[in-house]
Amino acid sequence: MIHRTLHAVFAVAVSAGLFLAFAPAAPAATPEELVKARQQHMKKFGGGMQTIGKFLKGEGGTVEDVQKAAAQIDEAAKGDFTALFPPGTAAPVAESAAKPELWQNLPKAQQQWVDVKPAADKLVTAAMTGEKAQIAQAQQAAGKACAACHEDFRIKKN
Ligand code: HEC
Repeated sequence: MIHRTLHAVFAVAVSAGLFLAFAPAAPAATPEELVKARQQHMKKFGGGMQTIGKFLKGEGGTVEDVQKAAAQIDEAAKGDFTALFPPGTAAPVAESAAKPELWQNLPKAQQQWVDVKPAADKLVTAAMTGEKAQIAQAQQAAGKACAACHEDFRIKKN
C-alpha cells in the first residue's frame, strides 16, 4: 500500500518534471527589455538615495522612510550583475546610458557592483540608529560606491 502510494507520487513527480521539460521556454527578453529592466533596477537605488538625501537636508521624510529606503537599496544591491548587464545591451542600444567599455572591463564593473552591497548594509545599520550623522556618513559612502561605476561606465546626461 505504502509502496503503491509512493509509486503514484513518483509517477506524478515524473510527469510534472516532463511537463516542465517540454513546456515552451519563456521568450528571450529583447535588448530593449533588458535595458529597461536595468534602468528600473537603478531607479530603485536612485529613489532610495533621494529619500535619504531629502531627509538629511531636512526637506521631509521620517526615520522610517529612511529605513525603508535603505532596505530598498540593500535589496536592489542583491541583484545579479550578469543578469543586469547582459551582453548586447550597451549604448546606443535602446537608448542605454551604459558605455560599451563596461563589457570590456567586466571584472572591474562587477567588483564595483559587488562593493555596493556592504555599503548598503552599512546604510541599513545606520538607518536603524536614526542618527543623522551616521546616516549621512553611510549615505556618502554608498554614493561613492555608485559613483565609482557611473564615472567609468555610465554616459553622462546633460
Ligand atoms: C556596476 C556599475 C553600477 C553601479 C555599481 C551602480 N550603477 Fe547606476 N547605472 C549604471 C549604468 C551602466 C547605468 C545606465 C543604465 C542604462 O541606461 O542602461 C546606470 C544608471 C543609473 C540611474 C539612471 C536610471 C534610469 O532612469 O535610466 C540611476 C538613478 C542610478 N544608476 C543610480 C545608482 C545608484 C544610486 C547606485 C548605488 C546605490 C548605482 N546606480 C550603482 C551602472 C551602475
